[in-house]
Amino acid sequence: MCGIVGYAGGAQAAPILLHGLKKLEYRGYDSAGIAVRDASSAHIEVIKAKGRLDRLMDMTGGGQAVCGMSGVGHTRWATHGEPSAENAHPHYSREKRVVIVHNGIIENYQEIRDMLERRGYRFHTQTDTEAAALLLDCAYAGEDGNSPQERAVHAIRTTMLRLQGSYALGILFHDQPDVVYAARRDSPLVVGRCTGEAHGHILASDVPAVLSYTRDVVYLDNMEIARITKDTLDIYSIDAERISKPMMHITWDAQAAEKGGYEHFMIKEIHEQPAAVRDTLSPRIVSRNGAPDTDLTETGLTDEEIRRIQRVLFVGCGSAYHAGLVGVGVTEALARIPCSAELASELRYRNAPVQPGTLCVLISQSGETADSLAALRLCKEKGMKTLAIVNVVGSSIAREADAVLYTHAGPEIAVATTKAYSAQLAALYLLAVHLSSRRAAISPAQKQELLEALTALDGKIKQALGEKTRIQRFANTFAACRDVFFIGRGLDHALCMEGSLKLKEISYIHSEAYAAGELKHGAISLIEDGTLVIGAATQPQVFAKMLSGIAEVKSRGACVLALSAQADDRLAEAADFCIGLPGTHPLFAASVGVVPLQLLAYYIACERGLDVDKPRNLAKSVTVE
Ligand code: F6R
Repeated sequence: MCGIVGYAGGAQAAPILLHGLKKLEYRGYDSAGIAVRDASSAHIEVIKAKGRLDRLMDMTGGGQAVCGMSGVGHTRWATHGEPSAENAHPHYSREKRVVIVHNGIIENYQEIRDMLERRGYRFHTQTDTEAAALLLDCAYAGEDGNSPQERAVHAIRTTMLRLQGSYALGILFHDQPDVVYAARRDSPLVVGRCTGEAHGHILASDVPAVLSYTRDVVYLDNMEIARITKDTLDIYSIDAERISKPMMHITWDAQAAEKGGYEHFMIKEIHEQPAAVRDTLSPRIVSRNGAPDTDLTETGLTDEEIRRIQRVLFVGCGSAYHAGLVGVGVTEALARIPCSAELASELRYRNAPVQPGTLCVLISQSGETADSLAALRLCKEKGMKTLAIVNVVGSSIAREADAVLYTHAGPEIAVATTKAYSAQLAALYLLAVHLSSRRAAISPAQKQELLEALTALDGKIKQALGEKTRIQRFANTFAACRDVFFIGRGLDHALCMEGSLKLKEISYIHSEAYAAGELKHGAISLIEDGTLVIGAATQPQVFAKMLSGIAEVKSRGACVLALSAQADDRLAEAADFCIGLPGTHPLFAASVGVVPLQLLAYYIACERGLDVDKPRNLAKSVTVE
């Protein structure tokens, strides 16, 4: 979704803004723009273009053609108004007195627009953001603070209190040279101190945009305002009081956010799954009295609290929700606690009754998904204990949940999640083993068996990657297909939902995931000669049932690709193709089963010549509702 960059310092701003925007490309966008203030001429130059950032690069000679040491930049993912140069950000008021870039949605923009039009303001775009720009202009004109700084902070504050919705803003005032302001409500913003040639300060929607200049950042919290210049960083509360916040040091390697020789981020990240799973599991599996045990101190759950849990509610969106479905199956099987998974976007408005003793587990890669954040707040409001499983350190969900279990997948750039999903599964397995052992729902021997299986899981995922050449061949054969069905039972149904989503989002092929036993209640009428059906058969207790399910679709003309760890002649006979999975504990089979499904989606999308890392209409971090 939209990305923001701002810079004030000792170097030319435009190349830094463009470089930062490039690093935010993964978020998804359809147009881009920059505004740079030339202190000597007091002129703010705004350049915008529809389409890829390269166009803006060409128009500005990589930024070299634009003079000035402060500015803001933006990649836009259209919400209000079509993708066009006019609707691209920055937006500004008359004579560019106020120039802003915005990530999020202003919900009451129409009301603000009507009010401002009555006061004589004229609008030139269809965006909600222009309403925020002109409202700020109006507030700034009406402020008479002691200093320009005080006027600006008060005007931003007044504007923030009037705006409804979510926003991260980057702001320039025409009469304040070499200063950039920022403000946030429910959309992320980090501010960093740059050293070296770019000496100054930089702000952005996400860390990759600042990593080339700094590793020391402050995460802005909700309803905070920042002011950056070459030498200063000031942060204000919504009451316009100066506040101090700790700098955090980013430890990731900048190269973790580069392609490193792979053709796409997605295939690189698929290959990083063994490491993501190992790094998530290994610090939390310890040796106690000669046997492996879980160490989940960071969840803040005492043994007594764990024993009192009545229900676990897993909440997320998209793939994170699919991980939650696996969490339900594994936690119920091991800990014998009733569990359910909810889509965050549904939970928000469902007015679900609260059961006392519910542990709410929020799952999110970015930690910024608007629906998940809102669901988290709702669960907290209803008195539930909340635990977040999050990949991005310091993100909103991580900060607002009662406790966090970080996944250690590293930065994930491809829009379609792979390694973060796998790391989420690993964290959920650990949590399930932890809850079940603390509730004495499993024996010490079972715990040992499960933890040994988890310790070996990264190796199994690596083995599953070994099938990639066969899968690529298969993908090339089926790249032109129109509909695909994924069928499985129990945990395999959750796996199928993830496989189907991967295929849809990057290859644009229609696909559906069905519980295998449910197909005959309607959807089997869609199976015809040559329909591709992927059957997942990793669960021993329903293996025979899956054989029947596969036979049912085969007899209606389907072409079946089966996935199983079980070498069984009956499956080989029933299916047209089989992908053998490495054996692991059946409860953890989604972790190996997902690998061929990710590879299949990837190779089909490549064969179709699609933009794998940035699929159409999608954004990496969905910060609007
Ligand atoms: C699918 C995908 C999305 C995300 C969803 C939640 O490949 O990436 O479905 O899983 O938007 O995002 P996070 O995990 O950041 O909350």
